[in-house]
Amino acid sequence: MERKDFLQKFAIGGSVLLAAPVLLNSCSDGTDDIIDDKENGGNNDDNAVTVDLTHDDFSDLQTVGGFAYSGNILVIRSGENTYLAFSKICTHEGCTVAYNHDEGELPCPCHGSVFSTSGAVLEGPATSSLKQYSVSKSGDTLTIE
Ligand code: FES
Repeated sequence: MERKDFLQKFAIGGSVLLAAPVLLNSCSDGTDDIIDDKENGGNNDDNAVTVDLTHDDFSDLQTVGGFAYSGNILVIRSGENTYLAFSKICTHEGCTVAYNHDEGELPCPCHGSVFSTSGAVLEGPATSSLKQYSVSKSGDTLTIE
């Protein structure tokens, strides 16, 4: 093998190896553990996440029907004193789901999957439920685990 041929093959192989982690990380099965970014008022303590409801990033949770994201978690204010939390990662191909309070559903904008407020699949193509977390409230702090 000529030196030039070796370098060309090495460059192509190296590109594939460098791209592999990016490609492998681009999809998620929605079963990720709770992950939180501490920058936005959330706080990750092992398997529990706390959300400071007074933080600007969670101002939408001041209103019933509002929702916000904390890391990979979708937090919904479902009633005056009730909150729901789900993995925000659609179980189909990993897009971020939203919340439609009027319909009481969690739609995914990518391919049309719809989840119920218990995380169950109402419409595909997703076939697996969203992971739901328990939420408790103390003062202005939600604890999600
Ligand atoms: S990623 Fe949600 S429906 Fe496809």
